[in-house]
Amino acid sequence: MPNQLAKRIANFPPYVFAGLEKRLADMLAAGKDIIRLDIGSPDQPPAPHIIQALHQSAQDPTHHGYAGFFGTPQLRQAIADYYLRRFDVQLDPKNEVLPLIGSKEGIFNLAWAYVDPGDVVLIPDPSYPTYTNGALLAGGEICPVPLDVQRGWLPDFSALPPERVQRAKILWLNYPNNPTTATASLEFFEQAVAFARANDILLVHDNPYCEVCFDGYVAPSLLQVPGAKEIAVEFNSLSKSYNMGGWRIGMVVGKAEVVAALSRLKTNIDSGIFRAVQDAATQALNGDQEWLSERNDVYAHRRDIVLKALPAAGMSAQTPKSTIYVWAKIPSGCTSADFCNQLLEKTGVSLTPGPAFGTRSQLAARGEGYVRISLGQKTERVAEAMERLKSFGG
Ligand SMILES: Cc1ncc(COP(=O)(O)O)c(C=O)c1O
Repeated sequence: MPNQLAKRIANFPPYVFAGLEKRLADMLAAGKDIIRLDIGSPDQPPAPHIIQALHQSAQDPTHHGYAGFFGTPQLRQAIADYYLRRFDVQLDPKNEVLPLIGSKEGIFNLAWAYVDPGDVVLIPDPSYPTYTNGALLAGGEICPVPLDVQRGWLPDFSALPPERVQRAKILWLNYPNNPTTATASLEFFEQAVAFARANDILLVHDNPYCEVCFDGYVAPSLLQVPGAKEIAVEFNSLSKSYNMGGWRIGMVVGKAEVVAALSRLKTNIDSGIFRAVQDAATQALNGDQEWLSERNDVYAHRRDIVLKALPAAGMSAQTPKSTIYVWAKIPSGCTSADFCNQLLEKTGVSLTPGPAFGTRSQLAARGEGYVRISLGQKTERVAEAMERLKSFGG
């Protein structure tokens, strides 16, 4: 039919935060004082040397054309050096590293490179919605991988239905985890690599929170498991690590065939990353890293403000060792969505309902009964939000 949307997009809802953004804009326009602890966007800027590198690069008159499809050799080398320094993982910057326009771009596009209609994709429930949405648009069949608090929000691979495992193309993992804030040990990653290898599944680990750690915790890379890069890739990002969410710069590293497939696909979709952003990212990865621990102290302080307030609101949470969130259990007797709606209407505090991280009917919405509280707002505003939460729930 002329003028009709493609079937694949006709029933495809906007990204969860896009809908919320419109609603909040209306409330703001009506004069409401909104505190957004829903989306995970760092409020602090990158360190001055990173902004300086952007500025300097943008002043070069030759840096404004298309910057090439595969990232500058300097950025690819900086990513490889970072993985070596930080995780003791060796990467070939030419074949095992690809810069991305934010990791969300690559996460979504990976499905186009790897998922044919009817292929099964194993996706944790709850999880970052882009794993699901990319797979669904490519025609994939979602097989939820249940996470629950009793297992520390880690999957039980032996409990997955064998018939679907047999047809599975991709297994997604993400630790430190959004939204549950759970972390995983290297031993767990070893089990995941063994499971993926035994079942001939591409293992994809998403690691954007690895530099946001507290209380001495140091997050590992999945690629630290010997042989992992023969069967796995890891997405990473400068968004949370270096407070560069709006700059749109991330990466995929690991198994060369996957990096090549995504590169080939991307040459047809985009035309590279602005040179000044690449130069700033290179500076971020190569330059001083000391500032990150001070930045993490700010998040840890906000985390503690939230944790202290929760009991008075009839809520509870485990203490996160990483990420920019608190994953909190709400009082029984209402759904997460109702809780967030009422809280927003009555107090102007916006949180994300747990089932938003397991959207679409294919996932069982294991996030029900939880809300995600973001720490990406000024400390005074986080504290103010917690006072409002206490008066709402207390
Ligand atoms: C688990 C996870 N993966 C990927 C992303 C995307 O990050 P970006 O596209 O900014 O690199 C996010 C952002 O919130 C995330 O939480």
